[in-house]
Parts: sequence; structure tokens; C-alpha cells
Amino acid sequence: MIPLPPHDCWSRPTHYLGRRVLQFAKLDSTNDLALVLGSDPANDGLVLLAGEQNAGRGQYGRSWQAPARSSVLMSVLLFPPPHLCRPVVLTAWAAVAVAETIAELTDLQPKIKWPNDVYLNGKKVCGILIEQRGIGRPGEAPATAVGIGLNVSQPGEFFDQAGLTLGGSLLSITARRFDYQEVARKLIHRLDDLYALLLEGNLAPLEIRWKQRLGLAGKQVRAETLAGSREGRLVDVSFEAIVLDVGANEPLQMLPETVRQLTG
Ligand code: BTN
Repeated sequence: MIPLPPHDCWSRPTHYLGRRVLQFAKLDSTNDLALVLGSDPANDGLVLLAGEQNAGRGQYGRSWQAPARSSVLMSVLLFPPPHLCRPVVLTAWAAVAVAETIAELTDLQPKIKWPNDVYLNGKKVCGILIEQRGIGRPGEAPATAVGIGLNVSQPGEFFDQAGLTLGGSLLSITARRFDYQEVARKLIHRLDDLYALLLEGNLAPLEIRWKQRLGLAGKQVRAETLAGSREGRLVDVSFEAIVLDVGANEPLQMLPETVRQLTG
């Protein structure tokens, strides 16, 4: 048994994930603990929540800062089957679930910024960090921590003072107060409903909803891969590839690291 800091344990009546939720006042990082608990496949579907993190981690080795009890700081521990192990699918799953939870709460329509940020009224309100432990034994799914940081009740000044000009919270954008724990509960159900579809092999509804929230079709974009970047008009986007009209005879197909819109 892995010793855990003091926590509350609760459960949601879900299909798959959140049947066990561990809620901590403070952790170093929910993703770190999720990866440790990933040594036991019986923890599949476990959700970890923290009121505060000492060492919250973001993309590209950055830190993720959130005042105590201001945010949903969540990690979902999964052992996804091979057809769901692609980063693009898991990222889209988490981002769509977050965006739809926000839409349900606020009546505003968030956008997804490739690959894994959720924006509301032009401000980043949520970041997603997906990490895997090892590669899993042959035939075994790797333990995967899907970390979600969703800003709920930071005032606008928090982002100004932190120099996060593009950051925002549900409060700073809507001037409405939401309880971060209630937001977390709603998000768990959204994640679970969507994940149940994915487990059945039904990826199409997620792909459609992800494409809509990306809002990039027909736009002039810059797509960046590890080998360099290309600009063009985005003709189509799917979990397999984006199709870019670069003015040459053949449209270009690629699965990039990032896609940025260049013009309206
Ligand atoms: C980003 O940089 O945009 C991703 C941020 C991810 C932050 C979340 S908060 C919960 C989980 N635990 C972590 O240490 N990071 C993720």
C-alpha cells in the first residue's frame, strides 16, 4: 500500500471514472501522485483533487500556480486501451469535457487552442498536462495521468500581478462565483460520459465536438512540427492529420505539435 497524505474519499455514480475520488487539501502535484498510484492497475479511473499544489506542473516544464481553493486541480488516472493511447485523442477528450462543462455553467462558448488549452473570451482558463508512467508491459496499457488545471475564482488582478496577460478564471471573465468543488463534480461526469463513448470505440462524436471548438477550418494557420513550420489554409482537421492548403498542387497532410491561427 502506498501511504497517502490525509484526504477525503468520495464517489460519483459514474460509468467508469470518478467512482473513487481522493480529495486532498494540499499536494505537491496531483499528476505526480497519480503516476505513483499508477503502479496498481486497480486504480484505473481514480480521480485526485487538490485544494492547492506546492509544485503544480504545466506544459514544457513550466510551473502551474493557483491560489488555495481557487481552481479545479485534478488528475484522472487511466490505463487507456491502445485505440485511446494517442495524445491527440486524450487531449481532445479532456479539453472538450472542460469546454462543455464551462459552457454548461456560464452559457459562454469556450474555444480549444491546439493542442490542449481552453480559452474563454480570449483568456486561457484551463491547461491540460498528460503524462505517462513507463510504457506499460507488452500487452498492458500504460498508466496515464490526465492533469487538468481549471481557473475558477481568481480575481482579474491575480493574472495581472502574475504577468499572465492571457490568463483568466471563470470569475474574472463572467463576474460570477462558482464553487471549485461543484465545478469539479460536473467535470468528472462530463469526462466520464465522453470516456464511456471512447471505450466503446466511438470516437466520432468527440472528434466533431473538438473540431467545432478548435474553430480552425478555413482559417489561415501556422502548423508547427518538430521538423519546422508550414503556413496555409486549414482545409480539414481530424485525429489522424490536418490538411493544409499551401498553394502547391497537393494539400499537405501532417499531425503537428501546434496549430496557430494567423488571421481572422
Ligand atoms: C499547462 O501548462 O497549460 C498545463 C497545466 C496543467 C496543470 C494541472 S493542475 C492539476 C495537474 N497537476 C499538475 O501538477 N499539473 C496539472
